[in-house]
Amino acid sequence: MLIRFERKTDLEAWRRELSPDLRLGFVPTMGALHRGHLALIERALEECDRVVCSIFVNPTQFNQAEDLQHYPRTEEKDLQLLLEVGCHLLFLPTIEEIYPEGPENAPNPFVFGELEKVMEGERRPGHFRGVAQVVSRLLEIVQPHALYMGQKDYQQTLIVRSMLEQMNSPVQLVVCPTVREEDGLAMSSRNLRLSAEQRALAPEIYRAMRAAATTFAERHKKNSSAFRQPTPVGQIEDRYLQQLAALPGFRPEYFCFARAADLKPLRDLPPEELPPPGEVVLCTAVWVGDVRLIDNLIVS
Ligand code: PAJ
Repeated sequence: MLIRFERKTDLEAWRRELSPDLRLGFVPTMGALHRGHLALIERALEECDRVVCSIFVNPTQFNQAEDLQHYPRTEEKDLQLLLEVGCHLLFLPTIEEIYPEGPENAPNPFVFGELEKVMEGERRPGHFRGVAQVVSRLLEIVQPHALYMGQKDYQQTLIVRSMLEQMNSPVQLVVCPTVREEDGLAMSSRNLRLSAEQRALAPEIYRAMRAAATTFAERHKKNSSAFRQPTPVGQIEDRYLQQLAALPGFRPEYFCFARAADLKPLRDLPPEELPPPGEVVLCTAVWVGDVRLIDNLIVS
């Protein structure tokens, strides 16, 4: 059985009734559920006694009205998937329920410094403030023990980790691996908007990331001292960025090696501070036609 609430007062009442011995897991989503989302719910079900999933297309994290309008909504299918996977509760609030003061008036007390100025933060101003706003509000309502999020949105997981620290929150953040299609394309609700031709080429993004990560790791292994020059990292990035840019309809925005802990671009680090491959993440954002895809890989 899947309990379904739209009002936060109903969820709060359910939460109060829950025995304190039970561990509660929470998976926030924006719907259009796919296997990537379901993997988070399955992991939460393994580790918790009760699992709440929320579906809320959060207006404050979209910096383009058009993107918000185009966001896929597949409610009936989502419900079916949640039932099949065995999720206990779906929270499906309205905008007024989450932002009674209006989305534009919701407070935003968090400070993320450099982390919100690079990559997605740089390209989508205000995006992560909106994410922190909604996740903090959902956490206040759900009061889970553990929060499950995907590595697919790597920068988002660092933002949420920082937010939890700033809130002094006891919630445990569990980051789950990216679920991919068989051909390597990271699962995303946005994939639904690719044409057949674009869909066929989209796995090139993962292929380019793997090749670049392998080059990085090999060069590091072979000649760690020679590698400790700033140019080679940039050279690898540029080579694969250009390869992706050469594909029809592809416009890469960035293809960037960064320190996994704080997303500081390796290009900007002094040679003596370059981390070993296991502490490096490769992040990319690529427009394929008018669909913007993001992906990342921990270099190992
Ligand atoms: P959404 O894009 O719906 O993603 C919900 C969760 O699913 C996120 O934690 C995301 O990282 C994870 N996810 C998406 N695709 C995945 C994949 N292929 N493999 C593994 N995990 C994947 O991210 C958001 O919504 C929103 O920003 C949200 C956190 C709900 C706040 O509004």
